[in-house]
Amino acid sequence: MKTRGTLYGVGVGPGDPELVSLKAVKVLNSVSVIYAAHSTKNSYSLAKDIVSAHVNKSIPILRLDFPMTRDKEELQRAWQQGAARILGTLNEGQDAAFITLGDPMVYSTFGYVMQTIQKMEPEVDIKVIPGITSYQAAAAASRTILAEAEGSFAVISGAKGAKKMKEIIGQTDSLVMLKVYKHYKEIFDTLEQLDLRHTSVLVSRCGLDGQEIRFPARSPNGGRPPYLSTLIIRKK
Ligand SMILES: C[S@@+](CC[C@H](N)C(=O)[O-])C[C@H]1O[C@@H](n2cnc3c(N)ncnc32)[C@H](O)[C@@H]1O
Repeated sequence: MKTRGTLYGVGVGPGDPELVSLKAVKVLNSVSVIYAAHSTKNSYSLAKDIVSAHVNKSIPILRLDFPMTRDKEELQRAWQQGAARILGTLNEGQDAAFITLGDPMVYSTFGYVMQTIQKMEPEVDIKVIPGITSYQAAAAASRTILAEAEGSFAVISGAKGAKKMKEIIGQTDSLVMLKVYKHYKEIFDTLEQLDLRHTSVLVSRCGLDGQEIRFPARSPNGGRPPYLSTLIIRKK
């Protein structure tokens, strides 16, 4: 037995189980334990749902709780507790996987947990298996070109509103915005002010039941779009 196992950060794609890579399936079926991030508010994990049909039933998929909060100390405590649990598995000589929606390197709790583990035990072997991101799937579903020729696109978060959009929009041809659900009103009002709503698309629950593609982009019935919504803004 190895003295210490390897941790795999595994991207499972944005929702459609057929978008999980062959490599992800292979790795998930090779580890002793799979960890899935959960919000402390509910018991559901979409990442777990996506992979469950691909993974041997004998491999436990265990929940790691993370609070939906901006409180830095509370978050750090949760990352440390998660990291300690994963290290417990690795230090028994077992490999573990941490599954994450989309790609592990894009707005994922895995990034925080990975950095926490690296601080606690710098020698730990960590490998990352990329996943198809939400915005790649949203661009494909809506047939929206993100970049061509010498063009550029940027990816930003809307978690704090439209400020970043206003800062970046002049510097890129297309703009992808994740986490638009909370400040949707400010974001859609800004799109309207910048005269960009008619060339933008909102893709909600991409690849999942209830998928919706709204072009031109608008919030559903003037209300809040689902948490799983991605906005793609095209300037032309
Ligand atoms: C915490 S981020 C996760 C990003 C993910 N790691 C990735 O690579 O796409 C959550 C945000 O991703 C976007 N998202 C994830 N899955 C999606 C889906 N199936 N359809 C539309 N947007 C999605 C939404 O903007 C959501 O608010």
